Amino acid sequence: MRIRVSHLKDRKERREKFAVLTAYDATIARLLERAGVDVLLVGDSVATAVLGYDTTLPVTLDVMIHHTAAVVRGTERALVIADMPFLTYQVTPSEAVRNAGRLLKDAGAAAVKVEGGSSVTDVVARLVDVGIPVMGHLGVTPQSVNQQSGYRQRGGNPRDAEIIFNDALALQAAGAFAVVLESVPDDLATRVTAALDIPTIGIGAGPGCDGQVLVSSDVLGLHDRIPPFARKYADLADVITKAARAFVEDVRASSPSRARTD
Ligand code: KIV
Repeated sequence: MRIRVSHLKDRKERREKFAVLTAYDATIARLLERAGVDVLLVGDSVATAVLGYDTTLPVTLDVMIHHTAAVVRGTERALVIADMPFLTYQVTPSEAVRNAGRLLKDAGAAAVKVEGGSSVTDVVARLVDVGIPVMGHLGVTPQSVNQQSGYRQRGGNPRDAEIIFNDALALQAAGAFAVVLESVPDDLATRVTAALDIPTIGIGAGPGCDGQVLVSSDVLGLHDRIPPFARKYADLADVITKAARAFVEDVRASSPSRARTD
């Protein structure tokens, strides 16, 4: 049986921390689930982690459906949450329902994630009202990269910290089942976590959150550069390059021009 969104709240109540990783395809999703990762986020970070874009903005709903369906096919137990791409939920709540509905109906996601606070609470409430579980996302919100001038930490001054704190309460009141806190000061994340009944999931937000999320390609070491808060638990870039080089050498070694003539 698949893990449900309600299980995350149970974990918070039992003070059991949980791990979340992003996944974008069936093969890696299967391995992450086998390792005990209970929650897989099909992030719109697919844009930068896999598809070669500079930001998450170009990702379309069809791309998210394609990757989410693959992650669902690759797993049996994990809770699969899909990101709603930029401008698929901000225009009107009805459009948001139709688009989120496709992530559940066509791709098999169990829940969706949206970025933003008080500006999206009407959308969150509408989605929850029709039976679509929603996770919020505060702090650095990569879909607002042009407005936030990059990916620098948010909530570092008392005014911004208060906005994030109140946005977290507003998302909970609107019915969100969890909130991602990205790149905010540890003490703010701890304060939000204590104030909410729903779980917080931190990324660059210190150890005080109920769960932690990282981008799987950072954890697996597929990229040369990773954000300062991430940790490489493996160096797959090196493993892959060495394996491919060994194959190339094997093939070259079998060239007739290299065959011995004596
Ligand atoms: O898109 C994503 O991968 C995310 C996580 C970094 C939380 O939103």
